[in-house]
Amino acid sequence: MKFFLDSANVEEINEIASMGLLDGVTTNPSLVAKEKGQKEFSKIIKNICKIVKGPVSAEVLSTDFDSMVKEGLKLSKIDKHVVVKLPMTKDGIRATRFLSKKKISVNVTLIFTSTQALIAAKAGAAYVSPFIGRLDDISTNGMNLVHEISEIFINYGFPTEILVASIRNPIHIVDAARLGADIATIPYKVLIQLFNHPLTDIGLEKFLSDWNKK
Ligand code: E4P
Repeated sequence: MKFFLDSANVEEINEIASMGLLDGVTTNPSLVAKEKGQKEFSKIIKNICKIVKGPVSAEVLSTDFDSMVKEGLKLSKIDKHVVVKLPMTKDGIRATRFLSKKKISVNVTLIFTSTQALIAAKAGAAYVSPFIGRLDDISTNGMNLVHEISEIFINYGFPTEILVASIRNPIHIVDAARLGADIATIPYKVLIQLFNHPLTDIGLEKFLSDWNKK
C-alpha cells in the first residue's frame, strides 16, 4: 500500500519524506488555505514537488469545464509529478476525460458512491478519492464504499487506483489495506499514531533499565 500525506505543510512533508515513507502527497483548497504566509498556490505545489518524487495532487478551484481545463493545464505545468484534482461533477468528469486524453493524471475527488467512482474510472481518471471519514461522520460505513469500488475495478480491469481519503484514524488504514486499496492519503497526526504502542515504550524502557543494572 502506498502512503500519501494529506497535507500542504512543507515541514510535515519533509519529516515523513525523511523517513522514506512518503509515496505522494494530496492537497485540497482547505489544506492550502491553512498554510498562511505562503500565499501563492503554485509556489506551494512547486515546493512540495521538490521534496516528494511521487504524485502530488493539486486541486482546481473552477467549477465549469472550460476553466477547469485551463486551470488543470496550468497546474500540470508546475511539475511532472503534479496530478490534477477535479471534483466529481458533470463538468469535472468532462474535464477528466479531456485532461486524461492529453496524458495528464487526474484524481477525481469527493467520491461518496461506487457509481461516482465507476464514472470517474470510465472517464480515464488515474485515481479516485473515496472520502471515508466524512461518510462515517454521517453514520454510513465508509469502508464499504472502498470494498464496492475495489470489486468493480477488479471486475472490469480498470487501471484507476483507489486513493482512500478523509482518513481519521489508524483503523481506517488497517481496513483499507486489508481490502487491498492502492493508496491511503493520511493526515500527519494519524501517520504519527501508526508508530505508537504503549507496550513498545514499556518494552524499550525495560531493556534500557536492565542494561544499566548490569
Ligand atoms: C483528500 O484528498 C482530501 O484532501 C482529504 O482526505 C479530505 O479529508 P477530510 O474529510 O479530513 O477533510
